[in-house]
Amino acid sequence: MEKIPQHVSIIMDGNGRWAKARGLDRVKGHIEGVESVRACLEAAAEDGVKYLSVYAFSEENWNRPKEEVMALMELMMRAMKNELGTFLDNDIRFMVLGNRARLSDGLNKTIDEMMAATAGNSRTTLILFVSYSGKWDLLQAMKKAQKELSPEEFQAMELPELDRFLVTAGIPDPDLLIRTSGELRISNYMLWQTAYTEFYFTDVLWPDFRKPQFREALAAYAQRDRRYGKVK
Ligand code: IPE
Ligand code: IPE
Ligand code: MG
Repeated sequence: MEKIPQHVSIIMDGNGRWAKARGLDRVKGHIEGVESVRACLEAAAEDGVKYLSVYAFSEENWNRPKEEVMALMELMMRAMKNELGTFLDNDIRFMVLGNRARLSDGLNKTIDEMMAATAGNSRTTLILFVSYSGKWDLLQAMKKAQKELSPEEFQAMELPELDRFLVTAGIPDPDLLIRTSGELRISNYMLWQTAYTEFYFTDVLWPDFRKPQFREALAAYAQRDRRYGKVK
């Protein structure tokens, strides 16, 4: 394929419906969803996608039943620990972005260890957005900018300069954003960073979204004509 996106991001949705359709507990859908992350990461690394980011848990997801929130946190912890070997063997850098202050000490410790252990890897970077929301990111960016800059610098700030205060500082904006399960919305994900992202919606539920579906999305992206407001 000639046009490979540098950064692919995914709003992984439909785990609950996948489980419900099989008479299973919602958590079973999340467990199966981890396999889809693994499959997409493998395809991304093979195809030369430098950044794969996935929306794993939004700030709004804290409002789900306590049992589901706990199950999701435990699942993330377990999945991370399980994958460390794979990340090291395959030159994968791992990052977690979001409101880390809301995560447990145990989870934060695991995240720090994983990020440190894979910091030197460079084939593909896997980013997990956890306890993240786009509006939260913009607010924390503005607060950080105001704190770090002089009042004069803050007033003189130009648009691109806000980038380095977002949690995604240093990471290129997503070229392609995939959302599974047929929902046609952004659900407070990267609002600023997706200003010129290509969107791809599919009815496939996240646990069913594997390598062939990922590659179908890449093929659709290759057909897009990105004009950025210009005339081509
Ligand atoms: C996505 O699946 C996973 C998270 C948001 C954590 P859902 O849990 O939202 O599944 P549906 O939308 O209820 O089917
Ligand atoms: C969006 O999915 C958040 C994640 C995928 C982590 P939701 O299922 O929470 O989104 P809404 O509530 O249907 O918009
Ligand atoms: Mg959902």
